[in-house]
Formats: sequence, structure tokens, C-alpha cells
Amino acid sequence: MRTQVGIIGAGPAGLLLAHLLRLEGIDSAVLETRGRAEIEATIRAGALEQGTVDLLDAAGVGERMRREGMPHEGIVLRFGGRSHRIPLAELTGGRSIMIYAQHEVIRDLVNARLLAGGAIHFGVRDVSLLDLDTRQPKLRFHDADGELQELACDYVAGCDGFHGVSRPSIPSRLRREFTRVYPFGWLGILVEAPPATDELIYAYHERGFALVSTRSPQIQRLYLQCNPNDEPGAWADARVWEELHARLAGADGFRLAEGRIFQKGVIAMRSFVVEPMQHGRLFLAGDAAHIVPPTGAKGLNLAVADVRVLARALAEFYASGNAQLLERYSETALRRVWRAEHFSWWMTSMLHTFHDESPFHHRMQLAQLRYVTESRAAATMLAENYVGLPFEEA
Ligand code: FAD
Ligand code: PHB
Repeated sequence: MRTQVGIIGAGPAGLLLAHLLRLEGIDSAVLETRGRAEIEATIRAGALEQGTVDLLDAAGVGERMRREGMPHEGIVLRFGGRSHRIPLAELTGGRSIMIYAQHEVIRDLVNARLLAGGAIHFGVRDVSLLDLDTRQPKLRFHDADGELQELACDYVAGCDGFHGVSRPSIPSRLRREFTRVYPFGWLGILVEAPPATDELIYAYHERGFALVSTRSPQIQRLYLQCNPNDEPGAWADARVWEELHARLAGADGFRLAEGRIFQKGVIAMRSFVVEPMQHGRLFLAGDAAHIVPPTGAKGLNLAVADVRVLARALAEFYASGNAQLLERYSETALRRVWRAEHFSWWMTSMLHTFHDESPFHHRMQLAQLRYVTESRAAATMLAENYVGLPFEEA
């Protein structure tokens, strides 16, 4: 088998890259260990930046998102028993976010790919990357029928998430990794209930962080800070509601609507970056290269920003033979990555309680929260990062 770009992973990064390349007339094949039903049902992100929304639209895969997604023009920071609104659109010249679940984006991209007759090899095993520092790299794998296959390519895109095989294929002496693991996780739940609020609520409380998000008029997405080693089963429904009500309580009488909890999961929180994001003919994109804690809603959006840069660089190469943008891929992508790393770390540090927290630290967090909600300059800083800074050119 032969293709121009071999793509490992059918997450948002791999599927969008395949789609953007096809629009440029570039052939690719996508290898994915899981099945179609599984990737289309995995519950993850929900908030799309303005630039992500615009890119999906421009690429012709935004139609259902426009119909079913929910545009939000503000978010709420809640502390001291009160809500403080950050008017995102007003502070950023009209930019906003869209609430549209990641697995819906995946469904739209899988549909577009299959309609266009593009290849997605689901259920593959034992993917290995060979000859990355030659002009003819190869991907070797067992297909869904257990047959050994070899895919020859011009370039390889490692879009296989944090636990994939692409990043470890870069010799360890040639990469540097930066990591921070946080001493807490999030319990995420899906609930059958009407929305309790028009906009996302990020709540800071001495019992821990809570986040109120949504998926539809009937389904709500809620998160609460927990021990990262907790089993979801340790959180009986009554305990979940007790914590959520306590962390969101206030003099204004705000109260969440309860409902049937039909999904629970615990998410670990880490910051991670690998440098560089390329080696020979391999380019890493998305969670394969970097992780952010979800407090800034940046992970999926960063994956989209990476593949935008990569697709443009590959298009330039195939159109003119000029590999300069490809050579600068890592440098270009990392500028946005580190900005998002900082923003996500900052939001996480401001909004969570830390075990070793001193009363001094608690006062610092409150001072920061007050400043961010009272100063237009500080609120603008949060808003422009949250809706996503404009894409920069290479
Ligand atoms: P992934 O989505 O991880 O996709 C990688 C794919 O590669 C997977 O399908 C995997 O099966 C496949 N794969 C792995 N190994 C191999 C292999 N060896 N061979 C072939 N295939 C392989 N981000 C936001 O922007 N906004 C949010 O609101 C947000 N909320 C989040 C909430 C939660 C609970 C979580 C967990 C994450 C959240 N994120 C959010 C982060 C976001 O989900 C990820 O950053 C995003 O999925 C990254 O996309 P990706 O394509 O790089 O990787
Ligand atoms: C979500 O809706 O899943 C979501 C929203 C905002 C975040 C994280 C997750 O910061």
C-alpha cells in the first residue's frame, strides 16, 4: 500500500488533518486501533473556540454544528457564593465559543471522510513507524483481519493521542519532555436534566472546583474536583449531588436541577509538552505532542490549530516542492501550544483547591478571582485566551 501522508489516530487531529489534506488534493490513509462505534461514542471535550468553529465551517464540515451546537457569548466565574460574568464577546470584538461535543465533531469528520471515499482503517493492531529519517517512511500494522500490512508514505502524522506509539518513536535523546501532574482529577458526569444556567459556570469553593457545562436542552455535563485515584463507583449519586450543591451554593439561591446520572468518569489532570514536535518525516499533532488540564477548554482546540499548520505546510510542499513551512512546523505550533499551556495552568491554579494549600494561598486565589472579574483589562486577558487567540501565520 502507498499514500502521500500516513496518519496514525482517528481523533479530532487525525480526522481533520485527513479532511484538510483532501481539500488540497493530497492523499492520506488513517490508521485507528479502535472501532468506528467506539470513537463516535467517547465522551470528551465540549467547548470549541471561535477559530475552530470558523475552520470547521470553512472546511465544509460545520453544517450540523451550526444547527445543533450552542453558541455562548460569556462564561461565569463563581466564588464567595456569587456569580461574576465574563462577557467574552463584548471583550473580544465579538468572538465567542460553541458548545458542541467532541464525539459529534468526530461523527461529522468520519462521515465527510467516508463520503469522499477516503480510507480509515479501524481496528488495526501493533502499528510501528519505520525509516522516519529517510525519504520513504513506512507504517507497519496488523489490519482488522490480522493480516500484516505495510503502508509506504512521504510523511507520517502522529495523531495518536497521549498514549500512542508516535511520540516514543522519536529517539529519547532527540526529544525533551516537560510535565506537571496535578494532585487532583475531575469527576465528569452526564445528567438528564434541563440546563440550570445559560452559560458555563466555573466555580471556586473551599470544598473544591466545580464546572457546569451543557450538551443539549435535555442533557447537562457537570464536573467536580476529586482525588485523581478515585474510582467513579466511589461517587454514589447522592454524594455527587451533595458536593455539587455545596460547591455552587450562594446567597443568590442558585440551584442545579438534579436528574438521572447516566455516565460517570474520572479524568486525571496534567500539563505536558514534547519538544520538538517533529523528527525526520514524522510530525506530531494534538495530544500526541501536548496535554493541558481541561480547565481552559484548550485540548481539542490545540489539536485543531496544530493540524491547520501542518496541512498548510504539506500543501505548500506538494504545490511547490518548498519544505520550509514543514521544517518550521514544530517552532510554529509550539508558540500557540505554550500560550495555551500557560492559560490552562493559570485557570487550573486559580480555580482548584490544593491539599497543601495555606490560608495565604487561598487569599491569593480570591484576590486573583476578584481582579479578573473586576478589572476590564484582566477580564479581557482571560476572554481573549478562552475564545482563542487568532491563528498566527508561520
Ligand atoms: P485523541 O482524541 O486522543 O485521538 C487519538 C486517537 O488515536 C484515538 O482515537 C486513539 O484510539 C488512537 N490511537 C491511539 N494509539 C494508537 C495507535 N497505536 N495506533 C493507531 N491509533 C491509535 N479540549 C477542548 O478543547 N475543550 C474541552 O472542553 C475539553 N474538555 C475535555 C474534557 C475531558 C473530560 C477530556 C478527557 C478532555 C477534554 N479536552 C477538551 C481535551 C480533548 O478531548 C483532547 O485534547 C482531544 O481529544 C485531542 O485530540 P487528538 O486527536 O489529538 O487525540
Ligand atoms: C465540557 O463541556 O466538556 C467542558 C467545557 C469546558 C471545559 C471543559 C469541559 O473547560
